[in-house]
Amino acid sequence: MNDTFAHWTAVILAAGQGKRMRSSLPKVLHPLAGRPMVRYVVDAAREAGFRRCVVVIAPDGDAVRAALGDGIDYVTQAEALGTGHAVAQAQQAAGEAEQLLVLNGDVPLVTAETLARLARAHEEQAADLSFLTAQVDEAGEYGRVQRDSDGRVTGIVEAAELDNATEGPAEINAGQYCFRARWLWPNLAAIPSTGDGERYLTSLIAIAAREGAALLPVPALDSDEVRGINDRAQLAHAEAILRGRINRRHLLAGVSLVDPATTYIDAGVTIGRDTVIEPNSYLRGATSIGEGCRLGPNTILRDATVGDRCHIVASTVESATLEEDVDVGPYSHLRPDSYLCSGVHIGNFAEVKNSRLGKGVKMGHHSYIGDADVGEEANIGAGAVTVNFDGRNKHRTVIGRGAFVGSDTMLIAPVTIGDGARTGAGAVVTHDVPPGALAVGAPARIVSEEDAKA
Ligand code: UD1
Ligand code: MG
Repeated sequence: MNDTFAHWTAVILAAGQGKRMRSSLPKVLHPLAGRPMVRYVVDAAREAGFRRCVVVIAPDGDAVRAALGDGIDYVTQAEALGTGHAVAQAQQAAGEAEQLLVLNGDVPLVTAETLARLARAHEEQAADLSFLTAQVDEAGEYGRVQRDSDGRVTGIVEAAELDNATEGPAEINAGQYCFRARWLWPNLAAIPSTGDGERYLTSLIAIAAREGAALLPVPALDSDEVRGINDRAQLAHAEAILRGRINRRHLLAGVSLVDPATTYIDAGVTIGRDTVIEPNSYLRGATSIGEGCRLGPNTILRDATVGDRCHIVASTVESATLEEDVDVGPYSHLRPDSYLCSGVHIGNFAEVKNSRLGKGVKMGHHSYIGDADVGEEANIGAGAVTVNFDGRNKHRTVIGRGAFVGSDTMLIAPVTIGDGARTGAGAVVTHDVPPGALAVGAPARIVSEEDAKA
């Protein structure tokens, strides 16, 4: 663990109302590539070596707390009275830290390298206040950096403070700051209130300039990194940038993406080498994929675990596990708690839920297996269904090794089909079928018993 910033505390601002999102979800919890945006900010700070993080949340910020988890201090800002007021709430929690890193919680693409570079420059220059700036084509709602004729920073003017917000390029405030604690705490109190009763953190720049404090603007190397998210258009744009970053990381690690533009991979997904992802595929949540797989086109995986050399085409897999050499689809659905052992074949229009399919099970067409244990090498005929729900409760079905479930068989659970047993086409099985037996009809009766071992 990097200890460079041991005497620092990072303060992340996440208590704003996020009105411009027009959402009942707090802005900082809107997801980007499967994670709430504020998680990226906290993760970047930690990765850069800032171990102590204080997150400022709104009174109804329990969801933010839940999303970020333990190992973080939380302080509540009773009313959203501006970014300056938000930082003031963190003073006690920041304790004796000599230096503060303050980060807007709605600027999620900022990297650990950039934060470390900002903090190092701040220390090397012995600055009182350092902040990240960026040159952007469209200043929009960002605070604009003001400089005098000698190029010295004189302040930041917020878009709301401009009578005529200038269109076009500008140097903007990116929303990441470093403060020497002894300079910050007394000066926070000096921030004036706006007409709306807000106290802008950015007023500190003019205060620092006026009193001749050591003020250091640090330009971001990539303006995409410091995009702030205030509305859903900006959220969608950030998502596209992040998707590009994630896809590039997988490409360089040996994964083929046939069409990166239509491949949507969440931040936490892992993929083995020589796996090929065909177009229009979605890899969501905590999905992990082995080596040499072929996925897609048109495939959706969520929280799926997929072993080596699997093929999944035009299918959906949710919270299911596939061992190696499994093939699925087109048009099948593997639902939560399904476990498919190696070599299983799932064809088209099949659904599996909460079931274990042993090695080499074949389930080619139009079937439903739910709440079942299926033995190795069993064959599930077209249209066979486990009738697992009696209207009140779910019941389990057991299908033995090497069993042959005939087409259109209804297995009325709870029921057991013995090893090597068979059912005839259209059988409605209401009682257990012994190993090696053949059951036919509706309701099914046993018509022959064979030695399963023969
Ligand atoms: C802010 C900056 C602006 C900068 C831009 C960069 C100020 C006054 N302006 O504007 O100069 O260019 O970010 O993206 O800081 N928050 C609180 N409590 C509050 C208000 C806000 O915790 O009372 C949090 C928000 O949740 C958000 C962050 O602070 O994560 C920034 O607030 P926001 O309202 O988005 O500020 P901007 O208008 O984007
Ligand atoms: Mg913002």
